[in-house]
Amino acid sequence: MIPTIEYLNGVVRMIDQTRLPNETEFIDCTTPEEVGSAIKTMVIRGAPAIGVAAALGASLSADRIEADDFDSFFEQLATDCTALAKTRPTAVNLAWALERMKRVAQENKTLSISNLKVHLREEACRILAEDVAINKAMGNNGQTLLQNGQNVLTHCNAGALATAGYGTALGVIRAAVDNGKDISVFANETRPFLQGARLTAWELQEDNIPVTLITDNMCGHFMKEKRIDAVVVGADRIAGNGDVANKIGTYMVAVLAQKHNIPFYVAAPISTLDLSLSSGEQIPIEQRSAEEVITLGKIRIAPEGVRAEHPAFDVTPNDLVSAIITEKGVAKAPFTESLKRLAQS
Ligand code: MRU
Repeated sequence: MIPTIEYLNGVVRMIDQTRLPNETEFIDCTTPEEVGSAIKTMVIRGAPAIGVAAALGASLSADRIEADDFDSFFEQLATDCTALAKTRPTAVNLAWALERMKRVAQENKTLSISNLKVHLREEACRILAEDVAINKAMGNNGQTLLQNGQNVLTHCNAGALATAGYGTALGVIRAAVDNGKDISVFANETRPFLQGARLTAWELQEDNIPVTLITDNMCGHFMKEKRIDAVVVGADRIAGNGDVANKIGTYMVAVLAQKHNIPFYVAAPISTLDLSLSSGEQIPIEQRSAEEVITLGKIRIAPEGVRAEHPAFDVTPNDLVSAIITEKGVAKAPFTESLKRLAQS
């Protein structure tokens, strides 16, 4: 599988996800501004992947700072981190990774500036490597919930492309397949940005995992026809009570799953938990350009001048969530206790 993001001697290289599946192009970033722009324009997307990108962006920031003392070094690093943190508001992994980079800088403030830069580079690369290991552990925990022969619905792309590798929701499916289970996937196309059609379908095809692409409004029909046995999605931020922010349309899928008695699983690393929030109502929802609704690819599909809205995420209330799969174990209701226990373990 082509790496989503990698660090190559001063360059952060990303596969351009806006051009998949038709073109496999890479974007090289050498400044934090270039990384920030790649996050904003969704060259790289998916909560864990943008966390990794931001950490590498912070390391590029550190590398270019010309300061002799820690305080002025940290001031410039913090300014770049603040700019990176503003690129996308919903996925908490972004802020989490940047806070970790700043903390490591503070903890090593007695080092020389050149050693500190090496330290920060190593930390960013550690965040990248850890993400793959976390996804594999999560996959292993989650695959026990899937049975041989099941059809699993997913929404958006929570795969290798949304992470440093292997994926969260698709990691659970990959782990089930790796354990010898015969799993087929239904992928919602995920209007308006089409992460399901463009990315999930591509990624699963590359891995030879059977995938059927459906438009978002078909999933209720397939549930009613008993063609879907389980739903597995990723998350951008999970509040302390287990409310889950994920790609717009996830809430609709969860409501339908409950109506048809289909388990609705969320797979996310501990870094996606935001225990500072008591409920999902406090999660900031990114509003993207209405242009993305009015057009499909580059083709306008609505009358000129029509009003459109584009909330990029929605919040699924915890009572629709059967379980939250993390690298540390599987949390079930009541989530306020189970999530806190996992986070502290
Ligand atoms: O807008 P995107 O493509 O960044 O949204 C991505 C999602 O909603 C994913 O489901 C989520 O980030 C989990 S990715 C492992």
